[in-house]
Order: sequence, then C-alpha cells, then structure tokens
Amino acid sequence: MLAIVLGTRPEIIKCAPIIHEAMARDLPVSIIHTGQHYTPELDEIFFRTLRLPEPRMNLHVGSSDPIKQITTMMQGLQPAFARVQPSAVLVQGDTNSVLAGALVAHKMNIPIAHLEAGLRSDDWSMPEEGNRVITGMLAELHFCPTDLQRRRLGVEGIVEGVHVVGNTIVDAVQHYADQPISPGFFEKFGIEPGRYILLTMHRPSNVDDPDRLRRLLECLTRAAETLGTRFLFPVHPRTEARIRSVGLWETYEQGPSFILTKPLGYIELLQLQKHARAVLTDSGGIQEEANILHVPCLTLRSNTERPETIEAGGNILFYETNPAALVSSIRELEARPRTWPCPFGDGKTAKRVLDILLTKKF
Ligand code: UD1
Ligand code: UDP
Repeated sequence: MLAIVLGTRPEIIKCAPIIHEAMARDLPVSIIHTGQHYTPELDEIFFRTLRLPEPRMNLHVGSSDPIKQITTMMQGLQPAFARVQPSAVLVQGDTNSVLAGALVAHKMNIPIAHLEAGLRSDDWSMPEEGNRVITGMLAELHFCPTDLQRRRLGVEGIVEGVHVVGNTIVDAVQHYADQPISPGFFEKFGIEPGRYILLTMHRPSNVDDPDRLRRLLECLTRAAETLGTRFLFPVHPRTEARIRSVGLWETYEQGPSFILTKPLGYIELLQLQKHARAVLTDSGGIQEEANILHVPCLTLRSNTERPETIEAGGNILFYETNPAALVSSIRELEARPRTWPCPFGDGKTAKRVLDILLTKKF
C-alpha cells in the first residue's frame, strides 16, 4: 500500500496523474490529506474536477504559524500511518505537508519516495528551500524532473535511488488542457482571448511586506496602462488577505487594470494560460505550465528553482518594481518565437514513477 501525503493545491494537481495511474493498475493507494489547504477553491474543486477519489483521511490542520502547522501535521500523521501501514510514503514538492510527511515516515522507518526531487533555489529565505533539502536527505527514492536535479542531489551526496523521470505536470497539462470550458467563459471576465495577461502571486517575498506589495501593484497598474491590457488575477487567499490589510482591495477591484477573481479550477486556469498574451507569476507550477503551453512567462522573483524554463527561452525573472522595465521585459518576451523546448518530459512521468515503485515492491 502506497500512502500519498498531500495538503495543497499544487500537490493535488501534480499527484493526480500518479493517483490515476495507480488506479488504472489496480494498485492500492491511500491519500492522506493534511488539510493545509481547505478553502474549496484550493482543495475540493481539484478532487472533483480532476476526478480524484476522496482522501482516506483528512487531518484538517488548517492555517497557523509554520511550527504549529508542521507539528500538528506530524501528530496527525503518526496514527494515520499506523492505521494505513503503508509500505512507502510518497510526497510531492516542497510544502510544509511534504516536510511533515517525510519526518514522520522517517521516524516510523517507512521508505519515502519524493516526487519533484532535487529542485533548489539556493534561497533559504523561502520556507520551501529547507523543506526540499530535508526531504531530500530523508528520502529513499528521488524522482527528479530533469537531469539538473540529479546533479544537484549529487552535489549533496545523494546518488542512490535517484531517477530522472520528468514532471507529472506535463501529464496533467496534456490531460486537462483541451478539456471543454463553459460557453461565455472569457466574456464572463470581460476579456478576449489573446488580449489579457494572466497574473498570479502568493509568495511571501511578494505579498507579505506591505511596501513591496504596494509598489508591485502600482508597477503592474502602470505597465497595464502602457501595454493597453488588463491583468486577469485569480487571487490566492494569502494574497487577498494581504491586499485587504493594506486597504487596497477596493481600489484595485474597481480600477481598470485588474480583474480580481477567486482562485479558479484547473481546467479554467489552463485555458486562461493558453489564451493569455503572457503570464506573470511567482508560482512554481505556472512557470512549468507556461513553458509547456508555449506562453511567455515573466516570473516575479529574483531566483527560480526551475532555471530550465529560462534556458529554454520562455521565462524571464523580474523582481524590480519599475514599470518601464516591466513593460520592456514583457515586450521582449512577447517578441520571442514560441518554439522553446519543454524540458519536463513527455507526459509519461506517472507511468515511469509507478514502474519504479513496483520494482521496489512498494
Ligand atoms: C503554501 C506552500 C507553498 C505553495 C502554496 C501553494 C508552504 C510553506 N507553503 O503556501 O509552497 O506554493 O501553498 O498554493 O507550505 N489560506 C486560506 N485557505 C486555505 C489555505 C490558506 O485562506 O485553504 C490562507 C490563510 O490565511 C493562510 C494563508 O492563506 O494563513 C497561507 O496559507 P499556507 O498554507 O500557510 O501557505 P500558502 O501561502 O498557501
Ligand atoms: N492554479 C489553479 N487555479 C488558480 C491558480 C493556480 O488551478 O487559480 C494551478 C496552476 O495551474 C498550477 C498550480 O495551481 O498547476 C500552482 O499552484 P500554486 O501557484 O498555488 O503553487 P506553486 O506551484 O507555486 O507551489
């Protein structure tokens, strides 16, 4: 029995191909949801629209400071693993749920398989960097998206059980990007395909410091005016709370430059990426999807653990708040031919992961 520990939106999306592949092979899988994400638009919508089975257990840990959140997860995961008796625990990515899952599995002597292993930003101010590195140290199987992560793990002395398999995000995009959306979808937002820019941001480095947040929103507003475009902005709850706390929600909601919406379902979000002029984001998953869908991507960060997207030619890092520089970066990206390669595999990552897990008798 494989236990899959997950807790947040990107983990649900990136584990979906693994869960579907295991179900197709009649392999027993138990999904243990930490409850790190719980708002329906970050959680339930993905189980429903990606046609995933209900989690066997949900620990409902909710939001709190990281120490309380991780320890509450750990206290819940121990009895969960004791009940499920998994032969291995699979975790995906770098969230607090991943760290808690890895620590408890390690203490209970259960082998850990880490999906999307070996990513490094070398930025220890990010909560995710410590989560990734510690999980890498504890895992027995490391499923790396590209050869870059295999080399990064090698530098840390991790050479056993390392497999370059691609990223399940390609499997997910291939499966869901052409699924139909409701008629009048673009009109509902007052946008036309090809004429808007999709914006998402939720990283503490962009939204937690009120000054940075204000400057960034102002910069985006000026850039939208110059480019004659609007930002379609599905707002993460963390970001909504921060924009409200600086008193700017109504200003931007009523202003001409942003269309603010609740977070959207995966099929909608893929359609919005496909038909955007460009994507501006600090999301890890969206950097990958924009690469796969051949949409220009400007990453609102000073670093990325996905440098392959930059080398491929479809992504630029941008961390300033200067509108003229932003406009020129977007124009530079838009001028590039949309023919860059996809470094993240062929959409058969879930099959490869399951094949390897089976050879290990997990
Ligand atoms: C978490 C992950 C991040 C990942 C992101 C995906 C960590 C350290 N961070 O960030 O790596 O990129 O998920 O979206 O694990 N909130 C809600 N409803 C929810 C969840 C959160 O309203 O369902 C609000 C709460 O106010 C909460 C805040 O968002 O305090 C932040 O939530 P949290 O799970 O701590 O981090 P994310 O920013 O979601
Ligand atoms: N996503 C979504 N709806 C949204 C915003 C994002 O379905 O409103 C998807 C997106 O397509 C990607 C994933 O959520 O697959 C990324 O999640 P997020 O940006 O929260 O986390 P990260 O990838 O940065 O860890």
